[in-house]
Amino acid sequence: MVTGSILITGGAGFIGSNFVRYWAERHPDQRIIVLDALTYAGNLANLSEFDGDARFRFYPGRIEDPTVVSGIFRCEKVTHVVNFAAESHNDRSMLDPTGLIGSNVTGVSVLLEAASRYGVERFVHVSTDEVYGQIHSGLFREDDPLLPRTPYSAGKAGGEMQVRAHVIAFGTPAMVTRGSNTFGPYQYPEKILPFFITRALDGKALPLYGDGRQVRDWLFVEDHCAGIAVVLEKGQKGEAYNIGGGNEFTNADLTRRVLGLLGKPESLIRHIPDPRGAAHDARYALDTAKAAALGWSPGADFDDALEATVRWYVDHPSWWRPIVESEPYQAYIRRYYGPTLGADL
Ligand code: DAU
Repeated sequence: MVTGSILITGGAGFIGSNFVRYWAERHPDQRIIVLDALTYAGNLANLSEFDGDARFRFYPGRIEDPTVVSGIFRCEKVTHVVNFAAESHNDRSMLDPTGLIGSNVTGVSVLLEAASRYGVERFVHVSTDEVYGQIHSGLFREDDPLLPRTPYSAGKAGGEMQVRAHVIAFGTPAMVTRGSNTFGPYQYPEKILPFFITRALDGKALPLYGDGRQVRDWLFVEDHCAGIAVVLEKGQKGEAYNIGGGNEFTNADLTRRVLGLLGKPESLIRHIPDPRGAAHDARYALDTAKAAALGWSPGADFDDALEATVRWYVDHPSWWRPIVESEPYQAYIRRYYGPTLGADL
C-alpha cells in the first residue's frame, strides 16, 4: 500500500494523465504531484477534472532541471515516483535525433539522483518495448539484449541504463516497465491511431508507411496503467517488466478496423514510401509472464477497447480539433508528410 505523495512526471501527457486518473480513483487519500514541461504533446486539458482538487498539485517544468526537481522533492515529501516524461514519437526523432536526449536520458538521471538524495521509497521508470529492437517471430523477454534501432528507442534505452546504474551505484529503489503500443483517450493525434481516426473523421487520406505489414502489439491505456501500478507496488528493485496487450495486428489491418468502426471507405488509405526507412521495426511482441507473476494481466477486450477509443474521439472534437488546427501541428504534418502525401495532405 502506497502512502505519502506520488510524483507523476509527464502527467499531462497521454499515458501520464490516464495514470493520474487511474491512481487518484484508487488512492483517494494520497497527494498527487504532477511535473510536466507542457511541450507540444502535454496538455493541461487532459487533467481538467482535477482543477480545484486539494489532493492535486501541478508544477510546470522539465525533469532535466535539477532546481525544479529538487524543489519538488524538498517541498512535497515525495515517497513514490512514476516517470512518464519523455519525447515519445519515433517520427519526430527521425527529424530531430538529438532533441530527445535531455528528457529521455539526462532527465532520468536527474530524477533518480533526487529520488536517492531525498530517500524516495519506490520509483518506476516507464520505458518501451522498442528498446529491444524488432523481433520477427517469438516474444521478447526482459533478459533479452537491448538493441534499439531508432533515435527515440535508443534514447529510451539510454534512460534505462541510467536506472540500472543508479540502482547499482546508489541503491536507488527503481524499476522499469516496458510497455507496448498503447491506445485510448487523450493520445496526441500524431501516433497512428488518433492520427488516423481524426483524419478519417475529416475525410482525409491516411498515410500508411510502406506495405503496412509491420506488426504492433496493442495495449489499452488502462491496462498499461494497471501494469505500471502493480510494478510500483510490488516490483523488485532493479528489475524490468514487460507490459504488453497480446493484441498483434498489422498496421494495415488496424487501419481497416478503424475505418470500419467509423463507417469510412478504405479508399482513404494511401501507401506512402516508408519515412522511417531501414529503421522501421517490423514487429514487436512481449512475453509478459514476469508482470503476470506480480498479479497483472491485461483485462480489456481489444475490440471493445478500440471501439470505445474511436467513440471517444468522435465525441471529443473539442479536445482534438484545436490541436490539429494549430499552426505547430500543421507545420509538423507539412514537414513530415508533405513530400509523400502532396495534394492529399
Ligand atoms: O511500442 C511502444 C511504442 O509505441 C512507444 O514507445 C512509442 O512512444 C509510441 O509512439 C509507439 O511507437 P510506434 O512508432 O510503434 O507508434 P506510431 O503510432 O508512431 O506507429 C505505429 C505504426 O504505424 C508504425 O509501424 C508506423 C506506422 N504508421 C505510423 C504513422 C504515424 C503509419 O503507417 N503511418 C503513420 O502516419
